[in-house]
Amino acid sequence: MDRREASSFVARLQAELSDLEMRAQLRTLEFNTGVNLCSNDYLGLATDARLKAELLDGVNQTWQMGATGSRLLSGNSREWEQLEEEFAEFAGTSDALYFSSGYAANIGLLSSLLGPVDWVFSDSLNHASISMAYAYLEHGKLSILIETLTRLKMPLRFARTSLVAS
Ligand SMILES: Cc1ncc(COP(=O)(O)O)c(C=O)c1O
Repeated sequence: MDRREASSFVARLQAELSDLEMRAQLRTLEFNTGVNLCSNDYLGLATDARLKAELLDGVNQTWQMGATGSRLLSGNSREWEQLEEEFAEFAGTSDALYFSSGYAANIGLLSSLLGPVDWVFSDSLNHASISMAYAYLEHGKLSILIETLTRLKMPLRFARTSLVAS
């Protein structure tokens, strides 16, 4: 990127930021204060003293910090497999697979489970990671479904709202 391209890139970013600000959609990161009513920590585990102690104990016992790489290549570890085996036993399933975040879980799970013959109907307010997982599906499906619904005289608006955002 030369100097001219760089300054046009910065100008474009500034214009996008101004646009977001005008629409009251400019976001900044804040530290939590007061009562947190938008947390995912439904069970209060983030501040649980026993869990903290277990975590520290686990970190002290393991020989390395972090995966150091993709699990498929060099990042797999006995601890992960043990965790998954224990969870599978707890859940009464044959196997379990841990993801490092909900986002990764949705992308990984949906994009690998859904195949060319599957249809997905999703609420437009579903989490962005669910919508992104659908992006891995064939785009042609959307038009085929809209054609089918049109042929069946089903309301197209329904198809658009539920699928464009899915
Ligand atoms: C349904 C759903 N999926 C995925 C996520 C993303 O989870 P994470 O923040 O762990 O990536 C969230 C987070 O709120 C969620 O509610």
